[in-house]
Order: sequence, then C-alpha cells, then structure tokens
Amino acid sequence: MAKRCRVGVVGCGFFSQNHLNSWHSLHAQGVDLVAVCDLSREQAEKAAKAFSVPGIHTDMAAMIAEGDLDIVDIVTQVNSHRALVSQSLDAGIATIVQKPFGRSLAECEGMLAKAQASGQFLAVHENFRFQHPHMMISDILASGKIGDPTWGRISFRTGYDIYSGQPYLREEERFILTDVGVHVLDLARVFFGEVHHLSAELQRRDRDVKGEDTATMMLRHLSGAVSVVECTYASQQLPDPFPATLIEIEGTRGALRLGADMSLTVSSGDQSTTINADAAVLSWAERPWHVVQDSVRNTCQHILNRWKEGKPASVSAVDNIKTYALCDAAYEAAGSGNATRPKH
Ligand SMILES: NC(=O)c1ccc[n+]([C@@H]2O[C@H](COP(=O)([O-])OP(=O)(O)OC[C@H]3O[C@@H](n4cnc5c(N)ncnc54)[C@H](O)[C@@H]3O)[C@@H](O)[C@H]2O)c1
Repeated sequence: MAKRCRVGVVGCGFFSQNHLNSWHSLHAQGVDLVAVCDLSREQAEKAAKAFSVPGIHTDMAAMIAEGDLDIVDIVTQVNSHRALVSQSLDAGIATIVQKPFGRSLAECEGMLAKAQASGQFLAVHENFRFQHPHMMISDILASGKIGDPTWGRISFRTGYDIYSGQPYLREEERFILTDVGVHVLDLARVFFGEVHHLSAELQRRDRDVKGEDTATMMLRHLSGAVSVVECTYASQQLPDPFPATLIEIEGTRGALRLGADMSLTVSSGDQSTTINADAAVLSWAERPWHVVQDSVRNTCQHILNRWKEGKPASVSAVDNIKTYALCDAAYEAAGSGNATRPKH
C-alpha cells in the first residue's frame, strides 16, 4: 500500500479555510491532515475541530517536531513567509507557501536558493492557472484551435469589498500587484509565454488604502505576442464580475473570450461556439467564491501529485519567481516610466 501523505497547515485564518477543506477532501487520495498551527490557539483549535485534526500548535517548530510531516502548507501573510519557509526546509520537509512568494524579489531569491541548495521541494500556491475556465483556455491553446496566441487582455476589475475579509490589505504598501497582480501576471505567462519587457501604470484611487489599488500593464512576450494585463479593486461597474477574470485572446487562426458569466466563446475560421466554463460548486464551497475554491483544491491536488511523482510542481519556486519578477518589474516600470525587463 502506498505511504500516506501527512500534511500540516500553518495559518488558520481567512483563506486557509479553503486549504483545510481541500486537504481534508483529498483524504481518499492518500492525504492525512494531521496538524494545524496558528499563533492564535483559538484559530488552531477551531480548525482542528472542524476537520478532526489531532495536532494543534501555536508554533511551527513544535508542529514539525511532533508531526512526522511530509508536507507543510504555509497560509500566512507574506511578512512571515521567509522565516517559515526557511524553517520548514531546514527540517527537510516538502514546503508549499501561499502567494505572494515573498516581500521582495531578494527574499524570494533567498528562499529559492535555499531549496535548490538542498534539492528540496518548494512550491508556491499560485491557484489562478488552476481555475476551471483558465484550465479550459490552456487546453484550447494547446489544441491549436485558435492558432498561436498573438494578442490578449487579462482583466480583473472589481469593487467587491475585499477589505472586510482581509482588512490588512489597506495597509500594504505594495498592494494590488502583490495581491491579485501576481495571479493575472501568472496567467499571462501561462497563455503567452515568458516576457521580454513590460510597462506599467499604477494608481491609488481609493484614498483609504496605502498602496496602489489599480494596475494597468502592457507586456511584450518572447513569442512576439502582446498582452494587456489589468487589475483594480476600485471599479464601480455593475454588475460586478467578482471574482471572475475576463480574458480575450486572439490567435493566428481564431480567438476566444471568457465572460463574467463564465461563458467561453471560441471562434476558429468561420465557426464560433460558446461553452459553459463555470467551475463546479464543491460541497464546502459557495458562490461567488466557488471558482476560487475549486482552484485551491485543484492546486493542492496538482502539487500533491507532483510531490508523489518526485517531480517539481508546475508552480514550483523556480517557476513562480518568474511571475514575481514580472510584478517587481511592474513596480520598477511604473516608477521610472520606462519599459522594464524582468530579472528572471
Ligand atoms: N490565492 C488566493 O486566491 C488568495 C486569496 C486570499 C489570500 N491569499 C493569501 O493567503 C495568505 C493568508 O492570507 P489571509 O487573508 O488568510 O490572512 P489572515 O491574516 O486571515 O490569516 C493568517 C493566519 O496566519 C496566522 N499566523 C501568522 N503568522 C504565523 C506564524 N508565524 N505561525 C503560525 N500562524 C501564523 C495568523 O494568526 C492568522 O490566523 C496571504 O499570503 C494571502 O495573500 C491568497
């Protein structure tokens, strides 16, 4: 019988509920969620109770010492990522960390170097490429149905009150680019390939937030494709498409368009078809978050499969640093007013 995978989750706050549900639901695929950890004992106890987890901790070192863990999944805010990732890798455990990978490119490089030096498994929980409609788009592109992608727009525009669940976001100095910007930039890499250079304009439209809440970027990909990648938390449009990412891609033989209603229209030659690309509403999920919740499960499943196979995840640290470098280049481009080349 194959060995079961013992998972410990660090951070039992707002977004972690999706991770806890996902790992719990992967029991039949060999996962045992054996430990949870949060600085707040109350949070850890609540998670342990909800998911019947035997190990309850307020310190990751103790969780590692007692847990006999195969995977540590870190779902804390970014200011703690470097220390926790470092500690987990030092203990020789396969490690997953939520996005954004780190507070700066240098911090991400440090974590990556540590993992590489010891040949350790390190993945970043980048989940947008695992959203059901986005996986469908990847499949369509791979099929060649619309030819080579040459132009696109990836757009995440909302006025949904994200601050009620995540009040700390108002205080982030590097805000939307490190929050949802990394997701849409990651999609640009997935759909159009690596980036040669990009330009960016940032705005702070809501005076009650510290950092930028709107980013408009233009990317030139190595393939020659151009993409416009945008995100804002200050849109006033109704109906609000939250949490949908709107996508248009034009290729050498056709085009596709993903709408807020999750309809995906694909044209090829003189044929056009529209299909429903909505995600399933998992038993523990709720609208309008279900697309995101489904993607968290898909991401955990993908990372688990790759770990079992002894291979890096597609969202490995090696891969994600390229997405983070785009985010970093966007800050630089916006500051200088010049198109900038990503450092990775
Ligand atoms: N991928 C996505 O779609 C998505 C969506 C929302 C949030 N996130 C990311 O998830 C992460 C967590 O965000 P959140 O909104 O859940 O934050 P949160 O503050 O609600 O929860 C974080 C929890 O971690 C705990 N914690 C902090 N430091 C710790 C430590 N050293 N040891 C143990 N526990 C510790 C806190 O007590 C808190 O309960 C962030 O990186 C955020 O960017 C991702």
